[in-house]
Amino acid sequence: MYRSHNCGELRIADVDSQVTLSGWVQKSRDKGFMAWVDLRDRYGVTQLIFDDSRTDASIMQAAKSLGREFVIQVKGTVIERESKNANMPTGDIEVLVTELTVLNESQTPPFTIEDETDGGEDIRMKYRYLDIRRNPVKNSLIFRHKVTQEVRNYLSNLDFCEIETPYLIKSTPEGARDFVVPSRMNPGQFYALPQSPQTFKQLLMVAGMDKYFQIVKCFRDEDLRADRQPEFTQIDCEMSFIEQEDILQVFEGLTRHLLKEIHHIEIDSFPRMTYDEAMRTYGNDKPDIRFGMKFGELNAVAQHKEFAIFNNAELVVGIAVPGAALYTRKQIDGLIDWVKRPQVGASGMVYCKYENDGTFKSSVDKFYDQADLAKWAEATGANPGDLILILSGPANQTRSQLSALRMELGNQMGLRKPNEFAPLWVIDFPLLEWDEDTQRYHAMHHPFTSPKKEDMHLLDTDPGKVRANAYDLVLNGNEIGGGSIRIHDKETQALMFKHLGFTPEQAQDQFGFLMNAFQYGAPPHGGLAFGLDRLTAILGGQETIRDFIAFPKNNAGRDVMIDAPASIDASQLEELSLALQVK
Ligand code: AMO
Repeated sequence: MYRSHNCGELRIADVDSQVTLSGWVQKSRDKGFMAWVDLRDRYGVTQLIFDDSRTDASIMQAAKSLGREFVIQVKGTVIERESKNANMPTGDIEVLVTELTVLNESQTPPFTIEDETDGGEDIRMKYRYLDIRRNPVKNSLIFRHKVTQEVRNYLSNLDFCEIETPYLIKSTPEGARDFVVPSRMNPGQFYALPQSPQTFKQLLMVAGMDKYFQIVKCFRDEDLRADRQPEFTQIDCEMSFIEQEDILQVFEGLTRHLLKEIHHIEIDSFPRMTYDEAMRTYGNDKPDIRFGMKFGELNAVAQHKEFAIFNNAELVVGIAVPGAALYTRKQIDGLIDWVKRPQVGASGMVYCKYENDGTFKSSVDKFYDQADLAKWAEATGANPGDLILILSGPANQTRSQLSALRMELGNQMGLRKPNEFAPLWVIDFPLLEWDEDTQRYHAMHHPFTSPKKEDMHLLDTDPGKVRANAYDLVLNGNEIGGGSIRIHDKETQALMFKHLGFTPEQAQDQFGFLMNAFQYGAPPHGGLAFGLDRLTAILGGQETIRDFIAFPKNNAGRDVMIDAPASIDASQLEELSLALQVK
């Protein structure tokens, strides 16, 4: 028996018990006639004590030669500590060691295995198995397990059935590039790793499985960011005989369940907002509604004077920053420089202070009088003491610049509180999105998303205006899930392919299997997928998903621990019929 207890469970009530513990040496202190070792495992740390008067000389000697991260087993007696440590759950006791076995030695780790480590990101990733021994990383993985378990509980209780779908498939067009896998047995042919199990879950609906879910790896060859990994996990779901409202209810329920079980928070309001409204009021399809600073459009009250920049702009739009009228010139210049950075790309910014005495002081006083500025305050919802910040230019671009500024201010002003949760459904997404590069429309979500019936007539005349039965779930300014009601008849699907620029042959070639299946009684169906990594990170109060993934890739898509991707042998290339392509 390696252990009678783990390193996190002994308490004062255990005093006088004989125990066996196993774990890693976190640190040791040697005072000559006495030595202490902190013994760590997943569950906690227990202090071991060795002392000249009560411990055998040979054990005393062995204890003093233990190195950091040695794996040891000890037997001993639980005793009350003389100086207790209230910060440790086991801080009232220590174990007086009578037997010590070194189970394995360890080299000195390349960084300290403490909550606050001296190891940089690269070295931690290279030795991720040591990084995971640290509490913050270990706890994030345990937290992820808890979220996953609650998801399984909730969905299983509603009769969802977890079904696995294949990883070696044919490419599904969902926007990103595919990772491909050469087939040895079919020279010159490739599988693609799924960007999502989208088509398979729809086939499972045709198959009558009714309610499906899967916690599943998805693969996308896209540029990486803090909230994106090339392989990530979805909670993928699909349901039959449902309307959009049913889906929103079920997954609103899942979100409530998670917040309740994990944070003991009951959410009162679960608002919905159309895509158009989100873009107009927050400049963004995933607004963080934990704080205000809603957009106020100023065209009507700013384009009647001689200020050419505003007069020539498609959109003049501002936000009121609460309490910021007292910002110094330097602080305001700092914000102007911030929006002018290439990542944001504004050419300048107009400001207007709404002073506490009710007067206005703006950077464009030459053009606008107090009555004009009062109208700006009204349009942006500004109160005395606020600072109004205004951008202008092409509508889409200006909205996204102001949205970036709003988020930056939210961060700077501490308005994005990690322990406050504000979910939001964004609904009525456009069906199609114009792509400048290819000069054609693309499906904004994916080609199986159904258009709104009432907008179908616009498909031929004004395709960009057609709305879809598509929705995203946003939590604290992050898209944590998205889905849609699907097209379930062959004719509408063929019409969609036509509008997406597929010839009937191309559609048949890529999606024949799905269209054929639709001829055998496809039920009305729809679904959604949550990003599990993002959901977990945000529930954990963070926005970087890497810390919630055991073995993540770095920003260049590399696993620096196993050193992948890597080249392969010439013989392997040959076997895969890739030798020629590589030459
Ligand atoms: P979508 O592409 O919106 O929908 O993906 C669903 C959710 O997956 C998460 N996500 C990611 N997380 C980490 N890294 C990535 N690279 C990444 N890409 C996406 C996001 C996103 O909301 N088949 C459809 C779902 C459906 O229609 O049912 C789909 O995949 O949180």
